[in-house]
Amino acid sequence: MTYQPAEASTSALTFPPGFVWGAATASFQIEGAVHEHGRSPSIWDTFCREPGAVVNKDDGDVACDHVHRYREDVDLMAALHLGAYRFSIAWPRVRPDGGAANPAGLDFYSRLVDSLLERGITPWPTLYHWDLPQALEDRGGWATRDTAARFAEYAVTVQEALGDRISTWTTFNEPWCSAFLGYAGGQHAPGRQEPAAAVAAVHHLLLAHGLANQALRAADPSAQVGITLNFTVADPADPERPEDVDAARRIDAVHNRVFLDPVLHGRYHPDTVAAFASRGLELPVQDGDLETIGTGVDFIGVNYYHGDAFSTLAPEHPFQGAEVERPTSSPMVGAEDVHAVPRGLPRTAMDWEVQPDGLRRLLERLHSEYTGPAGVALYITENGAAFDDEVEADGSVEDLERARYVEDHVRAVHAAIQAGADVRGYFAWSLLDNFEWAYGYAKRFGIVRVDFDTLERTPKLSALRYAEIARTGRVAN
Ligand code: NOJ
Repeated sequence: MTYQPAEASTSALTFPPGFVWGAATASFQIEGAVHEHGRSPSIWDTFCREPGAVVNKDDGDVACDHVHRYREDVDLMAALHLGAYRFSIAWPRVRPDGGAANPAGLDFYSRLVDSLLERGITPWPTLYHWDLPQALEDRGGWATRDTAARFAEYAVTVQEALGDRISTWTTFNEPWCSAFLGYAGGQHAPGRQEPAAAVAAVHHLLLAHGLANQALRAADPSAQVGITLNFTVADPADPERPEDVDAARRIDAVHNRVFLDPVLHGRYHPDTVAAFASRGLELPVQDGDLETIGTGVDFIGVNYYHGDAFSTLAPEHPFQGAEVERPTSSPMVGAEDVHAVPRGLPRTAMDWEVQPDGLRRLLERLHSEYTGPAGVALYITENGAAFDDEVEADGSVEDLERARYVEDHVRAVHAAIQAGADVRGYFAWSLLDNFEWAYGYAKRFGIVRVDFDTLERTPKLSALRYAEIARTGRVAN
């Protein structure tokens, strides 16, 4: 089924003044130039070379060649009226092999930041979007406590270089993916399938967040610091079936609460602890860790793509993953018996359900249970969709489905704000078509098309429609 929501009427919804409109990318997905500036290999460079790990054997060697084309990309952002740009910094470019600071790598980000500021675009850096230096993985990666300390050192290096021009820092992007897809499921780098390592990684990623949060605040007490989490909205497939209600609760525990509770409540939720214990696994918590992890944040970044209905009964037509040849396992440690069940909603090219109202429900829940009481703001740091774009003879792309996906979700954000949620910004994923991890370049999320032969950029219809939202702060109702 293709995605065809109702046409919007002509009245408009207005967002609060100062609401941030941006677009997002990540270093490994767009930068290329993997051998320049003394950058060392990351776990993704290694993983791309594992037979069968990435569709079509794609890699990040060139990607969107953003390192050489960043000025053109910043011009594009300005033309699209973006007020902010969320990008990530590559640890292996800035501290190759996790070792000493590398001025040439830092200089690239410094030039990028200057060029954004020259055009009045606020830089929104994320310190970690999955490209761990391979040398640190060789020493145990996120399953090892020492990696958290190395991350805090790296955060300080970046702060010292860019802190005079950056007011908002995000420590991590989607630590769920790093821990569970990286160390339990094996769908992502480093491709390990060791549930105990995944549970250890959860704690060390959180500890790294806490240590970096403290270091960034110590260096600049006015800095705004947060973390971006990927959420699911877990519904029971059959609300009348107690096993399904329990399945949804357990997914919430190992997907959402596993990070929310330590960051915002300074403890692991009992449901999370119980889920891991059901596999005989324990989080490696040491004295003082939860205080460090629970150091206050200024915002939670929300990455939302879809919700799911969950059941302990296997569906007739299971969701499809990336067509990789390498064997993988369930990333849902402690809830491996739970299945996502299709419920007849439209799907994107990722086979993800389109469910804008899930975003409204998520934001309202986060505000009432977690962020509101703590006075913490919410930003949508990613939302968007892959669809199979059709390119016209002149290179243009009339991606109506993506344009409507974005508008429908922006309307859902507006509804959450109306209901009282403190949401202060929205970043479209993604500015550019890019390297979609295990799917390689096969899945396109960009509002701007990238021709991977010529590297030419062409704004799609969705970019033009989103630019109008960003320019006016309004979306058609
Ligand atoms: C979330 C990740 O942060 C991003 O890197 C990825 O491309 C999008 N989801 C789409 O899968």
